[in-house]
Amino acid sequence: MPEPVQTQVFDGMALANELRRQLAEEIEDLTKAGKRPPCLAVVLVGDDPASRSYIKGKQRACSRIGMDAVEHMLPASTSQDELLALLADMNADDAIDGILVQLPLPDAIDPTVIAEAIDPAKDADALHPMTAGRLVSGKYDIASCTPLGVLACLDHHRIPLEGANAVVVGRSQIVGKPVSLLLQLRNATVTMCHSRTRDLETICRSADVLVVAAGRPRMVGADWVKPGAAVIDVGVTEVDGKLVGDVDFDAVQGVAGLITPSRRGIGPMTITMLLRNTLHAYRTRKGL
Ligand code: GUN
Repeated sequence: MPEPVQTQVFDGMALANELRRQLAEEIEDLTKAGKRPPCLAVVLVGDDPASRSYIKGKQRACSRIGMDAVEHMLPASTSQDELLALLADMNADDAIDGILVQLPLPDAIDPTVIAEAIDPAKDADALHPMTAGRLVSGKYDIASCTPLGVLACLDHHRIPLEGANAVVVGRSQIVGKPVSLLLQLRNATVTMCHSRTRDLETICRSADVLVVAAGRPRMVGADWVKPGAAVIDVGVTEVDGKLVGDVDFDAVQGVAGLITPSRRGIGPMTITMLLRNTLHAYRTRKGL
């Protein structure tokens, strides 16, 4: 039996609060200097309860740091052209600095078309292909919020990334792909895995840093984790009315060196990075 490891549990709320305090101070400095606060526009199409609750959380986070938020709650029957018209208005509106269109969208709306219609200068959620391309080029200001939150968590715990074996499970546009690029830019050796990967368990067990964003509840058990590894759980799936991560938290405690819980873990960091991206977009567009 391997020796049990003292596992650190990431407190996402504590780090998020610390970072949000810094963002609030920056906004206060700007408003004291006579500038208006930055403004995030959030768009929800349809009435998915989970999406509605995410949107409310984002708005609350904005108001707590002195950032303005405007919301557009559109019916599920909204057409793609109607949404494109709204985006064109928001792109042209100088009072809006960041635009977030909550995903998933109804089937009648193509998310790729919508992502391409967001002005890259206001792309706080990093959905536009130009924003993604800048990350590929290695010269980026704004990147997807959850991946930025993952990196902030790893840095907070001083997890060495240079030369580390990083394994990412999941290849989504908003998590798997960008987090792989961010880790590679920090000189980790990154293996990207997905639903067709052979012998996933062995690959995961080779990881110094394991990021799981597969949407498969409790997929990663103790046998999948190298003792002392940093295990970042991004998955959230509702099972019997409870939110469950992709990592079997109880089993992996005592094996991992660092673990993120599915509640108050990476989630609060995602919202924090959305606020950070919006402030950054505002400063860049206004030359502040
Ligand atoms: N739905 C779930 N997570 C996200 C996210 O990070 N951005 C957007 N736009 N929609 C989401």
